[in-house]
Amino acid sequence: PKEVFVSDLLSKMTLEEKLGQLNLPTSGDITTGQANSSNIAKKIEEGKVGGLFNIKSVKKIKEVQKIAVEKSRLKIPLLFGMDVIHGYETTFPIPLGLSCTWDMNLIKRSAQIAAQEASADGINWTFSPMVDISRDPRWGRVSEGSGEDPYLGSQIAKAMVSGYQGDDLMKNNTILSCVKHFALYGAPEGGRDYNTVDMSKLRMFNEYLPPYKAAIDAGTASVMASFNEIDGIPATGNKWLLTDLLRKQWGFKGFVVTDYTAIMEMSEHGIGDMQTAAAMALNAGVEMDMVSDGFLSTLQKSLNEGKVSLAQIDNAVRLILNAKYDLGLFHDPYKYCDANRAETEIFTSSHRSEAKKIAIESLVLLKNENQTLPLKKSGTIAVIGPLADAKENMAGTWSVATKQENSISLIAGINSVVGNSAKILYAKGSNLDYDAALEERATMFGKTLHRDNRTTEELLSEALKIANQADVIVAALGESAEFSGECSSRTNLEIPQAQKDLLQALLKTGKPVVLVLFDGRPLVITDESKTVPAILNVWFAGSEAGYAIADVLFGNENPSGKLTTTFPRSVGQVPIYYAVKNTGRPLGNKEGIFEKFKSNYIDERNEPLFPFGFGLSYTSFDYSNLRLSSAVMNTNQTLKASVDITNTGNFDGKEVVQLYIRDLVGSITRPIKELKGFQKINLKKGEKQTVTFEITVEDLKFYNSDLQFVAEPGKFQVFIGTNSDTTNKIEFDLVN
Ligand code: IFM
Repeated sequence: PKEVFVSDLLSKMTLEEKLGQLNLPTSGDITTGQANSSNIAKKIEEGKVGGLFNIKSVKKIKEVQKIAVEKSRLKIPLLFGMDVIHGYETTFPIPLGLSCTWDMNLIKRSAQIAAQEASADGINWTFSPMVDISRDPRWGRVSEGSGEDPYLGSQIAKAMVSGYQGDDLMKNNTILSCVKHFALYGAPEGGRDYNTVDMSKLRMFNEYLPPYKAAIDAGTASVMASFNEIDGIPATGNKWLLTDLLRKQWGFKGFVVTDYTAIMEMSEHGIGDMQTAAAMALNAGVEMDMVSDGFLSTLQKSLNEGKVSLAQIDNAVRLILNAKYDLGLFHDPYKYCDANRAETEIFTSSHRSEAKKIAIESLVLLKNENQTLPLKKSGTIAVIGPLADAKENMAGTWSVATKQENSISLIAGINSVVGNSAKILYAKGSNLDYDAALEERATMFGKTLHRDNRTTEELLSEALKIANQADVIVAALGESAEFSGECSSRTNLEIPQAQKDLLQALLKTGKPVVLVLFDGRPLVITDESKTVPAILNVWFAGSEAGYAIADVLFGNENPSGKLTTTFPRSVGQVPIYYAVKNTGRPLGNKEGIFEKFKSNYIDERNEPLFPFGFGLSYTSFDYSNLRLSSAVMNTNQTLKASVDITNTGNFDGKEVVQLYIRDLVGSITRPIKELKGFQKINLKKGEKQTVTFEITVEDLKFYNSDLQFVAEPGKFQVFIGTNSDTTNKIEFDLVN
């Protein structure tokens, strides 16, 4: 059994070998066929490496694993970790887009495919899912999470972990997942990446911690500590977080890895030198040091000085060895190194067609005046904008394994869907409007910018020429992939000015304009929402983006995505989210009219531009007859809430039916609405369906001032509707 095997191995290890297991360096430059002469080879031979970060391809991984299991004294195989965030070569929508599908089976499937492809290429550990709740679209990493809601975020966390890990890690197509960034990384002050987080325990427990907990409950094998501080102590060295909460309260059995160089960065936080930081991290509950080299270089000294204990080191090593054992690496260290799998299981046509299906479900129709969409496959269509012919931007941020050249651009998708039935014209219209910092960053990540050296006037005049010949204009505008993601915080959330100018010029032609909006975060599109008749928000939809978007634009598919993050009217409203508290001075009118001495703004309404849960369809749905199985619920009973939904439009369509609950009176103040259930249904035109939710006492619980998870008797309101703004409500009493 595992315990005996691991204990036996541990008893044979020198201290240096033990510290080696806790070390996760980058692979550096390894040339295929020459791994033995790479810088890292000697360290592996000496047993100073537990896993490698950032190495790709079966051939290289096999060579490196060979060094570990043939040349190191104890022959302990390595872990190979990578940021497989939203797919591998077959790339799915960015996680924020993926969450807008509200379809847990599809989300799980995306993780399964990612695991299959990554494992076919030698990887056995992914640094995903990222489950950080964020309510601040200035933060660039909102693109990598599932939006603002703890309930939805928890369901997605569970689906992702079970997708990656499956029910058996011994199989060769499942990999270790790593939930990140523990914890609260999505709430940095000012939306600036890596910045200070300061939050009450109540907010942590009720709003930000649930998705991490859900991933732990789903059995994630590893957890990544976040860069930020919590209560004045960096997460990487935070014993309350990593031991008291994670291990003792939540019962986590896997291992904790730091984020990249996070131990080293504790010195910048002002915690002390590397030795202090490394000892603090180990004592707090970190098992693996990503790239700092802090454990390897200082723990021996700390042990001699009594600053850490051997028991603590042994415990950490045991957890790393357990993970390797669970993966079956001791049985077969090359189980992920089958060159045949690498040839046949990556970027397959079946994976691509699943990716297209998922991409379609992630697209959110924000506006569709006068049924501008779907477009007819006839006449002349002008496709204009810097994102129309931009393969390199389709996959979005953190898509390290994607081959950009294989992604489908919008223009390619449109040409394929329309064929010869309509005349398609294309012009770039403007540059994306990178500023220097973004340009440098994009180049650093090996992205090709395709900057056009023509002047603004030349680009515009070419665009207007084709716009004037067209019956309809499709404007492909927004952010480039590198506008969002790590270290891509923004203070201005609008479409870059050069593109806004282009859009204005296109609108002036008087032709109908459809805005296809690419973004990695909610953008402030208040101007565009007034002037443009149709807006389809497409995020970065992955390698099949162009096909998916074109299918929706031309009505082969009906959009059904719903926002999982609120779109503000103005950046000044940020942080913004639907599950707000009422305050003692709530605004009394829904029209947004300013009232003195109420909680509102002089210069902006309180409401967002588009609320959480919002998304249109080509058809319409009518909600009626909201009812409860009883007006009273006992704490040991469940209640049924039902509603009838009718497809009243002219298309078959999918609808995400959303259930919200409000606890009207509590021992602490409670949000005005909280998502507690959702169902995605498919209705043919004219069809009617009853949707029923079961409400249990668990749905009514929250953490009170003593951090006890309780449901308090009293009045509750139930809302069922098409988005978080629904007012379709009914009440019940919870009694003991
Ligand atoms: O996994 C990532 C993390 O999300 C951000 N810092 C770097 C890590 C490894 O690439």
